[in-house]
Amino acid sequence: MIAYQRISAKGAFGMIDCQNEFGAGGLIDVVTGKGGLPKAVLRHSSGSCAEIYLHGAHITKWYIPKFGDVLFVSKESFFEPNKPIRGGIPVCFPQFGSSGPLPQHGFARTSDWELAGRDRLENGAIAIDFRLKDDEETLSLWPFPFCLDLRAVLEEETLTVTLGVRNRGQQAFKFQVALHTYFSISDIHQTSVAGLREVRYSDALSEGALFTESASLIRFDREIDRVYIEAPDKVEVLDEGNHRKVMIAKQNMPDIVVWNPWTAKSQRMVDFGDDEYLQMVCVETGVIARSAELNPGEHWNGTTAFSLTTF
Ligand code: BG6
Repeated sequence: MIAYQRISAKGAFGMIDCQNEFGAGGLIDVVTGKGGLPKAVLRHSSGSCAEIYLHGAHITKWYIPKFGDVLFVSKESFFEPNKPIRGGIPVCFPQFGSSGPLPQHGFARTSDWELAGRDRLENGAIAIDFRLKDDEETLSLWPFPFCLDLRAVLEEETLTVTLGVRNRGQQAFKFQVALHTYFSISDIHQTSVAGLREVRYSDALSEGALFTESASLIRFDREIDRVYIEAPDKVEVLDEGNHRKVMIAKQNMPDIVVWNPWTAKSQRMVDFGDDEYLQMVCVETGVIARSAELNPGEHWNGTTAFSLTTF
């Protein structure tokens, strides 16, 4: 790991020139993003790049020259402290959705994380680490000392995101965690999700009733909001209009959420355009259906790798 300068969204930040550290191959800069919030910009020598806000350790951009932008971000999104960004890859922790007493999807996505490290790996990949620890505010909501780490590794056509949770306290805690990824697609009517046939799911639109998926390709013609329980580790998002597919490979993240808000819910969301449901689909990986539990000193981690290919 290369020595790094500690930066937090609350503290001072500025442009960091990594040229000297990384040579000509890759760069990480921290610059001012939307709403004045700091963001890290990762550039791979192939031309692919990613942007990650310290607010939420929120990945808002992943661009590959051959494929364009992979992630959807709403034009109506807030970029403000205490509000989540609509799109990209929000991190849900320690609660998913409204399944407990915390704010929807937990507090990680609205917290200021620290930039904890950066690295160029032997294969030329660019890696960046973010960290969130308990503070007065989190302890007032959730009384457990914890450390949550996010590592993003950018390669030519792959982005790998690893989450780690450590219990720093004296008592056990339970948590849910997810990467709530919004994919940019050409048209929801020409998009499908493959790999979930015969998987049991809980349907949020039927008060959590359980069903078994019968389709090899999940297509969209209405709102869908489902947690696929203990899903296979490999699923795909097929975007026929763009002739591209995203391959999602997860480890130690048992569940997959498939979500599209369709028309009525889009209209209800203040930070989302009425027609934007046409250009996005969420396929989320995480520990959702059954919370994970950590005893004092114990550690959990889970990874999701996203890769693009044509089809
Ligand atoms: C999904 C949930 O993961 O997130 C949906 O399954 C929810 O029910 C969606 O509407 C967006 O949540 P939020 O809090 O970002 O509006």
